[in-house]
Parts: sequence; C-alpha cells; structure tokens
Amino acid sequence: MMAIKGFVFDLDGVITDSAEYHYIAWKNLAAGLGIELDRAFNEQLKGISRMDSLNRILAYGNQSDMYDAAQKEALAQKKNDEYVKLIQQVTPADILPGISELFADLKAAGIRIALASASKNGPFILERLGLMAQVDTIVDPAELANGKPDPEIFLKAAEQLNLAPAECVGVEDAEAGIEAINRAGMFSVGVGTKEAMKDADYYVTSTQELKLSEILRRAS
Ligand code: BG6
Ligand code: MG
Repeated sequence: MMAIKGFVFDLDGVITDSAEYHYIAWKNLAAGLGIELDRAFNEQLKGISRMDSLNRILAYGNQSDMYDAAQKEALAQKKNDEYVKLIQQVTPADILPGISELFADLKAAGIRIALASASKNGPFILERLGLMAQVDTIVDPAELANGKPDPEIFLKAAEQLNLAPAECVGVEDAEAGIEAINRAGMFSVGVGTKEAMKDADYYVTSTQELKLSEILRRAS
C-alpha cells in the first residue's frame, strides 16, 4: 500500500455549495424550454460539463433534435450568465463546514491539494473563497478530451501533483465523479446520500464529517 501524498478535490458541492447554483440556473433555463427539472434528475447533471448537461436536459425533455449547435451554444451561454451572476456573491463564509479544517490538516501533514473540477468557473470561485493559495495545482477542464465519469481529469491531477494515482485520494459529490476517481485508481471519498455514493470507497453525508485521520485510516 502506497502512502497517501495528495488529495484531489471536486469543487461544486464539495468545497462550496455552488452545486445548488448550477441547479437553480439549469432549472430556470429548462423551465423556459418547457422542461421541468427536479433534484433527482439533477443528480445526473453533477460533475457533467456545461454542454453535456444541456444535452442531457434536452434529451430528458424529448427536445434533442430541436436545436442546432449555435442555438445550443446560446442556451448554454444563457445558463452560464445566470450562474455567473449567482456566484458573484460567494465569500469565504461559503466554504462548506469542515473543509477549512481538512485543508489545514492536509497542509500540516505535507499532503498536496489538487482541484479537479469540470467547471470553467472553478478558479473564479476558489478566488472568491480565498482558497487559491492553498491549492497546489488546478486541472484546466478546457484541456480535457473526456469529462467525468472518464478518469482523465483525476489522472491529470495526479500527473500535475507528480504522484501516482494510488498515492491520491479523490473527493466528490457526484456519481459521475466517484466513477471517475475509481477508474483512475484512487481511493474515492463521497459526500452525499448512501444511494448516490454507493460506489464510493468511503462516504460521509456532510463535509463536516470529512476528517483526515479517518480518511487516511480507511485508505490504507
Ligand atoms: C461541475 C458541476 O463541477 O462543473 C456541473 O458539477 C457543471 O454541474 C460543470 O455543469 C461545468 O461547469 P461550468 O461552470 O463550466 O459550466
Ligand atoms: Mg461536484
């Protein structure tokens, strides 16, 4: 068993509750198209890129063939405009419970931190939260060929940390994210319901329960 030397974090729904803002912005966009989204369906959007999310929503509403590429770009842009408005208000007070303590414990233990978010707004949110200086490396989602559940983003994070995937723990709130971590060969930690996190190596129901000593004990 290799020692854990890196933690790779998802952002939305793990470090801050921006997953809720994504949900609000998609729900409003979909409502304008006559498609009603609920939280159960939203689980399938977590971790999924902007355009892939739109495609899933259109398929859900039986509208897959109704828009051409340019119209879909415009719809995705409209969703992002609302999302970007919502995240202007983010402050360090929006860091989810337990995350600041976990980051401090990781620093003290010499364990490096990477961000593996599918969001192009990730760096902006990290800045707003005041966490930029604590993150050692950020994977640029624009450079990826495949989104979660493909392991690419987590493999890239390990590479940027100069670590083997087996030396890393991945933390996610999305079903697609847990699958990506598992396929990357990292120890997966899930935050969410037992049902949504059923494939996680270890799961907690809230970020407050994320304790470094317990995670390291489970991962070894
Ligand atoms: C992920 C979110 O982190 O980023 C998804 O879980 C979101 O809901 C995706 O669609 C892409 O985000 P953005 O900000 O680039 O549209
Ligand atoms: Mg997430």
